[in-house]
Amino acid sequence: MKRILLLSLTVVAVAFIFTACNQTAKNKAMVKKELIGTHKGKEVFLITLTNKAGNVIKLTNFGARLTWIEVPDKEGEKDNITFGFDTFESIINGDPYFGSVVGRYANRIAKGKFTLDGVEYSLALNNGPNTLHGGPGGWHSVVWETGAIEKTKEPTVVFTLKSPDMEEGYPGNMDIKVVYTWTDNNEIVIDYSSTTDKKTVLNITNHAYFNLHGAGHGDILDHQLVIKAASFVPVDSNLIPTGELRPVAGIPMDFTTPHTVGERIGENYEQLILGKGYDHTYVLDNKEEVDATVYEPVSGRLMEVITDQPGVQFYTGNFLNGTMIGHGGKPYNYRSGLCLETGHFPDSPNQPEFPTTVLNPGDTFKSQTIYRFSVK
Ligand code: GLA
Repeated sequence: MKRILLLSLTVVAVAFIFTACNQTAKNKAMVKKELIGTHKGKEVFLITLTNKAGNVIKLTNFGARLTWIEVPDKEGEKDNITFGFDTFESIINGDPYFGSVVGRYANRIAKGKFTLDGVEYSLALNNGPNTLHGGPGGWHSVVWETGAIEKTKEPTVVFTLKSPDMEEGYPGNMDIKVVYTWTDNNEIVIDYSSTTDKKTVLNITNHAYFNLHGAGHGDILDHQLVIKAASFVPVDSNLIPTGELRPVAGIPMDFTTPHTVGERIGENYEQLILGKGYDHTYVLDNKEEVDATVYEPVSGRLMEVITDQPGVQFYTGNFLNGTMIGHGGKPYNYRSGLCLETGHFPDSPNQPEFPTTVLNPGDTFKSQTIYRFSVK
């Protein structure tokens, strides 16, 4: 009798230990953090998040960027659908914006100048006569702190940054936090929050490039796009908003119903010529849950974009030219990736009619954007 009891106790104990180990193995598989190098004295990590569906995204704290999004096609074949690099050196020296968080001010500020409470601020010019994407030393180019990997239900990574007063010419010491969650439903949920100790301006986005065929496999001209936006922001030859918000009805900018990216991109329409393709902010209707969808019929991959921000910059990779060699040695060619950068409108600090991008001390800026992947 005693023997049987001992035996059963042993079986229970072994089963318990096995489950616990398995559990640990599972948790470890969910979030992996590897040191890949050091940049300007700070450790750079590659972080791998695996969800319960077994799908993987990878991020790095250099620029708080997404560098790999591996999701299945309709046959269940997995491929990476975002632009990025394989090695530490290529991450640091490669395209500055692939997958990165962009700030303080994503997109352009005309002549690199704006005024707050009568004080004029001057920024470095890095895009002809303008400042682009927070300036040359913007948040895409710095090493963020990688927060404690929290034991959340779904794999999460937290990046934080202290941006000092007058960094790149912007006023105010800022604290920025970006949380990426990779849900079991194949959604990348990006939560941004930020505070300042002095009145400043802020327009934060993620600059991931997508190709739903798989990154490095052809162009994005056959991707079918919907953007729930009745108007867009026309620009001048320097891609600075003219101040107008123009209805899209009846012009090749209209994506309120599905159109392929390539269908009208070559039309002789002034804004497509100025943008060298699509490189425009859409004024989101913000009426439904999903703000934009991209569908690629060969793979069946569908991406939905959901945001609480007033706009989305739709950019068709018009400046890509194949010189950037990404994952697996694949060149990123002209129009081989598209971006849907959620945020505010370009040059808002100089455009009194646009929604304000001013952040005051005592206030916390919070926003959320979701990229959701599925097949149909
Ligand atoms: C944004 C801009 C583009 C281009 C890319 C980066 O999307 O609107 O004009 O500068 O970033 O190359």
